[in-house]
Amino acid sequence: MSEFDTKLVHGKAQNDNNTGAVNVPIYNSSTYIFPKVDAKVRWDYARSGNPTRNSLEDQVAELEEGYQGFAFSSGLAAIHSVFSIFSPGDHIIIGDTVYGGTFRLINQIFKKWHLDFTAVNTQDVTAVKNALKENTKAIYFETFSNPLLRVTSVKKISKIAKENKLLTIVDNTFLTPYLQKPLKLGADIVIHSATKYLGGHSDVIAGVVVAKNKELAEQIYFNQNGIGAVLSPESSNLIRRGIQTLAVRMDRHLSNTEKIVEFLQSRQEIKRIYFPGLQETKDYEIASKEVEGFGGLVSFELQDGLDAIKFVESLTLIQLAVSLGAVESLIELPYKMTHAELSRKEQEEIGITPQLVRLAVGIESPNDLIADIQQGLDLLHYQS
Ligand SMILES: Cc1ncc(COP(=O)(O)O)c(C=O)c1O
Repeated sequence: MSEFDTKLVHGKAQNDNNTGAVNVPIYNSSTYIFPKVDAKVRWDYARSGNPTRNSLEDQVAELEEGYQGFAFSSGLAAIHSVFSIFSPGDHIIIGDTVYGGTFRLINQIFKKWHLDFTAVNTQDVTAVKNALKENTKAIYFETFSNPLLRVTSVKKISKIAKENKLLTIVDNTFLTPYLQKPLKLGADIVIHSATKYLGGHSDVIAGVVVAKNKELAEQIYFNQNGIGAVLSPESSNLIRRGIQTLAVRMDRHLSNTEKIVEFLQSRQEIKRIYFPGLQETKDYEIASKEVEGFGGLVSFELQDGLDAIKFVESLTLIQLAVSLGAVESLIELPYKMTHAELSRKEQEEIGITPQLVRLAVGIESPNDLIADIQQGLDLLHYQS
């Protein structure tokens, strides 16, 4: 059995490739020949199955150590198909800082269909227990929250879930199976916005789900085919190609982030740093037991009175954009960008202030990244 890094590069062996190509071909065929009317063919129609997509799905299932994988046209399409396994009247406990688009899906679509949700701080085990109802069916969260990188214990939550016969569903976008395998820690379903680290190059929108067992896999497959938001063969190929370099990219994301955090700690302009690798925090305590690295994101607050907008706009190498997980570094102001849909009161409640900056660290030279941040911080002391 090969090791994880080798599995990233090689995926699953292909048996249908007659050309000797080292990569899985992009099968751009929407339909497939039946040799006879009642023949049992492996592929019949590309929404139901496509060799390029299926190869990616097999690979992610193996990487997450699950039973079966599914690839979708976006991370949100993946989440939509997972929530669609529930029925009207079911209740789901959800992390109170999950991705904003997930909240929109819940509040504006699934609530209309009478799915009931309670948002809680999933780091707080008592709060999770208190949110349980008779009709609770699942607990859904992101291990590292966005943008404050608060860490939830997959082990503790899945223990509560098991005791109450619930499903544990983890959005593993920020960590990837390189840094955490939630299914091994007790989760039942893993979801990714593959747009981020799995793709890794800001050139494709994609989602992935991995189910732990056959029963869940059958339900998710039904929804994938029935709802129809499948990943195209071209995009499946881009995710496959991204995954090949996941380990080397993640190593560089991790080391760059550690260096930037160290630099930020040395600067008086920084009031507070949010990074799960900072020791003596609750986040570190949980993360150090359940993850293999502290990720490629760091958020920080500038001191009161310093102009955060001026800071992010003055950077020359690090680009002002939402999203994360790609080779290039991206910076953003959550209160104006990723979390702008929340009212100021809601933002304050979850710790998002106008001084808060989120940096998604890329794989450029750490010296260049630090030099860019340094010139941006220095500029804050000059009146424009
Ligand atoms: C943690 C997380 N989950 C899901 C999504 C949604 O993924 P997509 O944008 O691929 O639909 C995002 C997007 O930013 C995300 O950050």
